[in-house]
Amino acid sequence: MPLDHQLRCIGCGASELPPAPDFHCSHCGELLEVVLPQAPSEAKTWPERWRERRTSLVAADTSGVWRFREMLPTVGEPVSLREGNTPLYALASCGRRLGMRQLWAKHQGMNPTGSFKDTGMTVALSQARTAGFRWVACASTGNTSASVAAYAACAGLGALVLVPAGQIAWGKLAQALDYGALTCQVQGDFDDCMRTLNAVVRQAPVGLVNSVNPYRVEGQKTAVFELLEQLGWQPPDHIIVPGGNLANASAIGKGLREMRERGWITRLPKVSIVQALGASPLAAAWRANRGRELIPVHAETRATAIRIGNPASWRKAVRVLAETGGDCIAVSEAELAVAKAEIGAEGIGCEPASAATLAGLKQWLTRGWIRREESVVMVLTGHLLKDADYALDFHRGQMAVDAAAERLRRPPVAIPADAAAVLAQLEKVGRA
Ligand code: F0G
Repeated sequence: MPLDHQLRCIGCGASELPPAPDFHCSHCGELLEVVLPQAPSEAKTWPERWRERRTSLVAADTSGVWRFREMLPTVGEPVSLREGNTPLYALASCGRRLGMRQLWAKHQGMNPTGSFKDTGMTVALSQARTAGFRWVACASTGNTSASVAAYAACAGLGALVLVPAGQIAWGKLAQALDYGALTCQVQGDFDDCMRTLNAVVRQAPVGLVNSVNPYRVEGQKTAVFELLEQLGWQPPDHIIVPGGNLANASAIGKGLREMRERGWITRLPKVSIVQALGASPLAAAWRANRGRELIPVHAETRATAIRIGNPASWRKAVRVLAETGGDCIAVSEAELAVAKAEIGAEGIGCEPASAATLAGLKQWLTRGWIRREESVVMVLTGHLLKDADYALDFHRGQMAVDAAAERLRRPPVAIPADAAAVLAQLEKVGRA
């Protein structure tokens, strides 16, 4: 197959094809990124073509990733579960409470396996299969493992996943098992899983599909093509993402940069990142030295998806913060829990890590860094059902939050099978 793209090191700029098994530059050790050829002049009309594909029945057109294939590297026959094409919701009641008229949620939890990982995995698995791998592998806090397992099954490849024992939400573990992955529960945290897997891929012919794999980033960047299409190609003022390993912020930044280079948008939204306080090495580095140097931490948070102390893609993320004028902050466990319940109360719901976006927005509004009249899109990265335990603990009152959050709790009530008992409950709620 003719290659239409290059892999270039983000540090020293060296071109690396084929890449090393761990996708780090063989000269300076930095990460690689895909560089696409220059767009032809007809690229101006691509957005129309992409929209027309939404009514097409051709397999690749029905994917919300491959619909944008002019902006993707050529990697062979797509391995697709019809990912992407996710909704953009107006968050009416959160917006009202915050005094905002333009607050949106791009819900990437509405992907086939319930998280944004699918948009990247479709490209990574297509590339891995074309490259001849029989097995693919990842280290994961849960969502990546579910997505790898599903897409490997779809591609007819084996999936090896390394997850930290006892530290991932059971919904995600159930997915990996059900989709047939070889699932290793590693004694250690995510950072230990990543270190172990890097050693494995240097010794065995398995394709690494963690987000250091630059093909993952290519798929994930399509979320902002779709978002801009949904907004009529008018960029919002801000895009807010939760940060763990920091690839998603990088992908969103890359997508925006490419859109501006091709003239589909003329200004970049500020892309900002929110981390959980107990897993916030980038927020600390951003505050201390604008991200010149990051000190890994031992990560601790109930938002297990972003429980990462040594994020692989932090340099790419820093570049996006600097280029778009964004910010990076950390939010407490209590702020996270409340924000998650508020998104749930809209009838939308998301997993804890995703709710970091709303918790962060509230901090920025308080500081005046985001203004109420600005337009904000929060990227919700995972589905509520991924971590049902978290929601149950919150509503049953088994999670510490301040008194003001009590209004959000909806604990189940035990009653006899009796209409009068139900009516009494209705009356009680009506009086409250
Ligand atoms: N939100 C959710 C629901 C996630 O699963 C993750 C990462 C993130 C946010 C952070 O994205 O790493 O690109 O900064 N989950 C990975 C996993 C690490 O293994 O599933 P990021």
